[in-house]
Amino acid sequence: MNNSKLKDLLGDVKELPPMPQVAVQVMGILDKDDFSFAELVSVISKDVSITASILKIANSPLFGSRVTINNLTQAISLLGIKNLKNIVVALSTRGMFESNKITIFEQKLWEHSVATAVYARIFALKFNRKMAEEAFIIALLHDIGQIVLSLFVEKYNNVKENVFGQHIDISLVEDEFIGTNHCLVGSLLLEEWGLPEIYCDVVLNHHNFQNSKYLDMAKIIYIANNKVKDHQFSISKKKDYSFDGLLSDMGYEQSEIEEVDISFMEIIKSEKDLLNV
Ligand SMILES: [Fe+2]
Ligand SMILES: [Fe+2]
Repeated sequence: MNNSKLKDLLGDVKELPPMPQVAVQVMGILDKDDFSFAELVSVISKDVSITASILKIANSPLFGSRVTINNLTQAISLLGIKNLKNIVVALSTRGMFESNKITIFEQKLWEHSVATAVYARIFALKFNRKMAEEAFIIALLHDIGQIVLSLFVEKYNNVKENVFGQHIDISLVEDEFIGTNHCLVGSLLLEEWGLPEIYCDVVLNHHNFQNSKYLDMAKIIYIANNKVKDHQFSISKKKDYSFDGLLSDMGYEQSEIEEVDISFMEIIKSEKDLLNV
């Protein structure tokens, strides 16, 4: 990642995270016309924590399987080959924490990301079913810029101290202390990792969905990101402006949103484990 746009942006940063190794391997296999399923399973299963996460997600009520998923072959069929690389990337970002010291900030950030993913999936299943798979993964990745900044940019400690648990717009504090923000950083990182354009665009615009080329997806992530703050899954408590009334402006009935809220709370309560995928 020498001479990358991201490195230029962050200036004095020595190293940035490469795409997680297991995702690189999965991508290599999927790129072949005649890839073998067994090869795919063998590569993923070498990463114990990703394997455990995939099984946990596949067995959660989010994916509605009627039978217990006991192995990766079943789980991959359920989650779908199409998004496999992206879900592996998203899940392996958690592993970036482990080589470093995890503070309450990173823990809360991960929980916020998973909660947003769960909310986004439930919301999409209700209103825009065909977007549910990608919505889950994009939501899991939406704040990856914060993860990267928190692990690789020392000055980011100032941002963390100023926003954690406060009613403050995190992007403004980021601009002040580091001259850029987590939306742009996350988007550039995903671009450098070769993730699809919709991922990069929606991550870039997750606090300003109006600017996205992928409006339907951006709205889902925007709503999920703000809604989970009602349930204490937040870093900064500040919601994006104009959120109140937005859902009705978008044509969603209050009662339907309440149903999504209830499903979200049920799943989060019954599947506490999911927050640590
Ligand atoms: Fe964000
Ligand atoms: Fe967020």
